[in-house]
Amino acid sequence: MQTSKSELRQATDPTSGNSFALGFKSLDHEVSVPQLPVQGKFPPWLTGTLLRVAPCKYDLGRQTVNHWFDGLAMLHKFSFAQGYVSYANRFLHSDAFQEATKTGGFTMRGFATDPCGTLFQRVLSKFTTRWTDNSNVNVSYFARQAVALTETRMPVRFDPDTLETLGHAPILPDVKGVVTIAHPHYDRDRDCLYSYLLDFGMKSRYRLFSIDNTSGAQKVVAELKIDRPAYMHSFGMSSRYLVLVEFPLVVHPLSFIFRCQPFIRNYRWRPERGLRFHVFEKEGGRRVKTVEAESVFAFHHVNAYEKGDELIVDFVAHHDAGIIDQLYLARLRAGEPIDPGGRPMRYRIPLGASSHVRREVLSDTRMELPRIDYGRTAGRCYRTVWGAGTHRPGNFIDSIVKVNVENGQTLKWWEEDAYPGEPVFVADPNSQNEDTGVLVSVVLDARRNRSFLLVLDATSLVEVARAECPHPIPFGFHGNYYPAAANECRLPGTGAPG
Ligand SMILES: [Fe+2]
Repeated sequence: MQTSKSELRQATDPTSGNSFALGFKSLDHEVSVPQLPVQGKFPPWLTGTLLRVAPCKYDLGRQTVNHWFDGLAMLHKFSFAQGYVSYANRFLHSDAFQEATKTGGFTMRGFATDPCGTLFQRVLSKFTTRWTDNSNVNVSYFARQAVALTETRMPVRFDPDTLETLGHAPILPDVKGVVTIAHPHYDRDRDCLYSYLLDFGMKSRYRLFSIDNTSGAQKVVAELKIDRPAYMHSFGMSSRYLVLVEFPLVVHPLSFIFRCQPFIRNYRWRPERGLRFHVFEKEGGRRVKTVEAESVFAFHHVNAYEKGDELIVDFVAHHDAGIIDQLYLARLRAGEPIDPGGRPMRYRIPLGASSHVRREVLSDTRMELPRIDYGRTAGRCYRTVWGAGTHRPGNFIDSIVKVNVENGQTLKWWEEDAYPGEPVFVADPNSQNEDTGVLVSVVLDARRNRSFLLVLDATSLVEVARAECPHPIPFGFHGNYYPAAANECRLPGTGAPG
């Protein structure tokens, strides 16, 4: 592993206590700050907007949500211009938010939180509860409309200038299905998004679909019947193929009716199933093949591409799905140790007659929230993945890492009691080189009880600048950078889905 100058300068005692609990405190303040104080100097070409969404309200009044993934969504916007950066944040006024504000509790089925009540009420709720529209995972554009996404089919539209909530942008309204993902892929050649919808039933179905970027037309491009649907948080896309990777965290669809448990607790870890790779052609939707490999779990695909007679599929693999249990709010707020465990792995899927899948560890560096130079390398051979890493064992995400997937070399940025979020790559428009640009990341500074926006040189991970926010921003998941003023952000994929 290489070590950056930045790390040598900053790495000190790695034994301090877990101060990350601050990142799970609710944030109620909504502000609009025209100019944040800046140390350093932003590149002159950095003139766009970073839009992010994060769970920011956990304590609802009479109920506190159970899990990090169930916090109510807040939008955050950082706009760069002429060496300055502005900041604004605003709650997403989803139905889930509106009802929680009125009732002081969760009124919809969430990830690991259901409406509270008596046992009878909770059993009854299995038949009546609506799935949440609390879109706290990612942002994207559906046909030039900014949307916040979660894993249900009701993304929430918002104004990227004012962060005002505008209503829903339903997915495939005429097709049955409940669960989707917050990581659509943008296909530059076809100018469309791809994603999938899961329909629970006696015979459940995965339905891959596309959204045309000009017309907004949505259509199913492939379908697969399945007995025990898997929990899949993202999927792979190469130039010609869409790849669903079923991790062995699966559910019997009837358990949603007969078990009185929140969504994810109906899923069971069945490592004996192994991994199942389902490969579909984008054109025509034909399933090319299904192959299997040894069991692991992942949230995030990194990239996929075709090389010779192989399909390369890279994702951040965890040994099992235990990471989900580690992210319950009570243990995070208690600062209990985390074993993040994810590392970038490569699977080589034969496109010919063979069904033998080869697996490689790309690096032993622990990381999550991976990002690539999406505009230049999505679906293509690539060299670099950036992510949020863990420098101090047992800590929450406390570093930013860069991994060369060709040789495993790793760089790291780390600072004591600082907790970075996902590093979003912004390409230098004056260069064609894959990793030339900057990373932007919202960092919680636990010592100073506030967050800052960090800008790193994406090649060296040396700090370029930072801008101080007026408050601590709770930990979030994903966002995207759009290389124009917010009101001109009309090109999905220029800020790539995560
Ligand atoms: Fe994600």
